[in-house]
Formats: sequence, structure tokens, C-alpha cells
Amino acid sequence: MARIGCMRAQNVKTLAIIGQGYVGLPLAMSAVDAGWTVLGIDTHESKVSQINLGSSPVEDISDEQLHSAIANGAYRATIDFSVVSQATVVTICVPTPLDENREPDLTYLRSAATGIAPFVSNETLVVSESTSYPGTLRDIIIPIVNEMKRETTKCVYFASAPERVNPGDSNWNQKNTPRLVGGIDERSQARALEFYNSICDVVVSVSSPEVAEAAKLLENTFRLVNIALINEFTQICSDSGISVHQVIDAAASKPYGFMPFRPGVGVGGHCIPVDPLYLTWWARKIGSKATLVEFADVLNHDMPSYVAERALKLVAKGITKPRILVLGVAYKRGVGDVRETPVSELKSYLIEKGAEVAWHDPFVKDWEGSKPVDLDWNCDVAILATNQPGMDLSEFAARGIPILDCSNSLGGKEGVTSL
Ligand SMILES: NC(=O)c1ccc[n+]([C@@H]2O[C@H](COP(=O)([O-])OP(=O)(O)OC[C@H]3O[C@@H](n4cnc5c(N)ncnc54)[C@H](O)[C@@H]3O)[C@@H](O)[C@H]2O)c1
Repeated sequence: MARIGCMRAQNVKTLAIIGQGYVGLPLAMSAVDAGWTVLGIDTHESKVSQINLGSSPVEDISDEQLHSAIANGAYRATIDFSVVSQATVVTICVPTPLDENREPDLTYLRSAATGIAPFVSNETLVVSESTSYPGTLRDIIIPIVNEMKRETTKCVYFASAPERVNPGDSNWNQKNTPRLVGGIDERSQARALEFYNSICDVVVSVSSPEVAEAAKLLENTFRLVNIALINEFTQICSDSGISVHQVIDAAASKPYGFMPFRPGVGVGGHCIPVDPLYLTWWARKIGSKATLVEFADVLNHDMPSYVAERALKLVAKGITKPRILVLGVAYKRGVGDVRETPVSELKSYLIEKGAEVAWHDPFVKDWEGSKPVDLDWNCDVAILATNQPGMDLSEFAARGIPILDCSNSLGGKEGVTSL
């Protein structure tokens, strides 16, 4: 793209991040560490106030880290999109959920693009980090920004750099996880590589935004399919009396060509249950097929009822309305994120079967209109869905309460049955 007529008036190292959640806030802190001044834009007013008071809404960012970034003047959150005009780089980190038909819902992405467009300045780089199907940057975001930008804004650069962060992971973070970068043209690619090289240890240049977008879908679909395989395999092993975990451990001794996945209540979070359906939708849209992925989704959605049936088998004979305590309702250990948690379907199924269900999770204060109970809640069976740090489960055996362990973390303990 020609640079004639382009002029950059902003501070070179000012970054605007749209969306201050699990992706946007850690990115903001990484950029602050790398010397950027960061403006965190979010439409959620109370979240913005909370952040500006130094209280972090995500587990991976401590209040201290946030406080120091704010105190140093390197970071602030705002609901005001006009601050985008101060930025040389704008990254979009908003949710990309499914709609009621379980198809891509790009409402947030469109509104983020609409929000930034009038304020994007000349030579600004706009990057989408949100997960979506190939073509989202080119066919949705770029047309919105180009149509709505000011007349004086002659050139805007665009790239896709899907975030791969794994909340709660103490080894891999925004900085040390290699970052895929696919620009819309040569100049966009150069700008995007320059930006990500300033905040990430390793940047992987790919030939187009579509390759980056598709790679992200492949990564998460790979997990969905393998989890479905192991969930199905678990049911076969259980029917034949073999411990699936012993089988996985044995198979994992092979040094190549095998990667261990573990069974569980299902899949949860904003990524694994959602992103593969962006892939299946995209396949249908272009006249292709993703049969295996669709079936993996069905298999994982069958797991909560399977787990419920296994738990009900542990209820002592004669109890007609069993009291069941679900331990850990967040979709994974170490986080309070209950989005798409399969425990929701587990709870509904148990209630449908006549059980009284309560839950406990030290990371979740309220969920689906109810509050957690204490660990000593009087129950007939406990289901360990997610083994959250800080849950002392030692008393269950002493109280004679059987536990169905879906987290592969209590194997061999008294009173514990593993999936
Ligand atoms: N959470 C993860 O583990 C993870 C990992 C990798 C990629 N992703 C992807 O990153 C994207 C963001 O996910 P997340 O988990 O950070 O979501 P999140 O819900 O934690 O945060 C998104 C934030 O965006 C805000 N928002 C929504 N619409 C907005 C708008 N128009 N303008 C400004 N702010 C807006 C919301 O208020 C929210 O605070 C998604 O596409 C997701 O698939 C998530």
C-alpha cells in the first residue's frame, strides 16, 4: 500500500485494546511490560470502573500488577472509543460466541469494528485477536472500518493474530506462546510483525489472515475431537472394567504419535465448545463438510448425562431423592469462568432424574441464580467435576460419601470412583 499522503500523528507506542477480558487484559499487561502505553476499551461500564480501581477481573492478572500499570500512567480502562485516535495499534479482543442456532455470532466483533472506525488514524494497524472463521477480517471487519473511517484517514493496516492464551496456565502465557500473524498485505504484515515482536518472544509469520484464522480453528478443533475420542473410549473401558487412565498412561509411554487427553464432564469455556462450530459453519457455508467435528460435538454433549448416570449408580439403595454435591463448576481448574461449563447440563440432567443438587466452587461466587454450599453439605454422592485449588476433600471418605472423580486427580483414594 502506498504511503503517500499518510501521516502518523500519534504516540508511536500507544495501543488501544477493544475488550478487557481474559484475552484483552493480559495482552494489555504484556504490552505495558514491553513499554507500550495502553488504553483498554470495554463497553461493560462496571468492569471498567473495577479495573480502574485496580481490581483485576481475570485470575491471570494480579491486582498488584494492574495497580502498578495504572499508577505508572501506562494503562487505563475506558468506555470511550474516541481514545482510539491516540493509538498506532488497535487490537480487537471481544467475544465471538454462538447464537441460539449454535452458529457464529459476530455481534460483538461488528460493534467493536463500528466503534473504532470513526477514530482510527492514518497508518494505524488494526488487528483482530478474536477467534473466528477464515474471512472474518477481510469480509467483516475491513469493510466496516473502511466504510466508516474519517475521510482524512487514508491508509489503515489490517492483520489477524488469533490469541492462544490458556487462562490459569502457569507455564504458557501471552508472551511466551508463539503468535501467528497474517496481514492483509505486505505493509500490514510488516507492521503486525513489528508490533508482536515487541510483546511476544516468538512470532510466526503466515501468508494471509485466513491462514491464521483457520489455524486457530484447527488447534481448538484438534482438542475437541481428541476429547470426544477419549470420552467415548472411557465409556468402552468402563463397560469392560478397565481403567481408562491406566490405558492412557500406558499409551502415553509411546514417545511419538500419541498425545494424552483425559475424559471429563464435557468441554467448556469460550473456546473448545465454540470454535469448532465456527469451523463446521464455515465448512457448510463454502459447500464443504465437517462430519467428524459435528459428531465430536455430539459425543461431548452426551457426556454430562453419562456422568450423571455413573453418579446415580453410586447412590445407596433405597434413597429415592438423592442429594448430590457437584464440586467445581468452572469449566477448568484454577479459573472462575463458567461460560459453556458442561456442569450446567450435568446439573439439569440430575435434577431431571429427581436428584437434589448443590454445588461448591471456591472460584465462583454465584452461578445460574444460586450460591455455593459448604463442603460439609449433607449429600449422598459428590461429583468432582473440576478439582479447584483450595477444596479439601479429605473429609468425604471419613463421612462415607462416595466421590465420582471426573478430574483424574483422586485416583486410588478411598471412596473414589474414577471416570
Ligand atoms: N478466554 C480464552 O481462553 C481465550 C483464549 C484464546 C482466544 N480467545 C478468544 O478471544 C476473544 C475474547 O475472549 P475473552 O475470553 O477475552 O472474552 P471475555 O468475555 O473475557 O472478554 C471480552 C470483553 O469484551 C467486552 N466487549 C464486548 N463487546 C465489546 C465491544 N463492542 N467493545 C468493547 N468491548 C466489548 C466485554 O464486555 C468483555 O469484557 C474471543 O474471540 C475468544 O474466542 C479466548
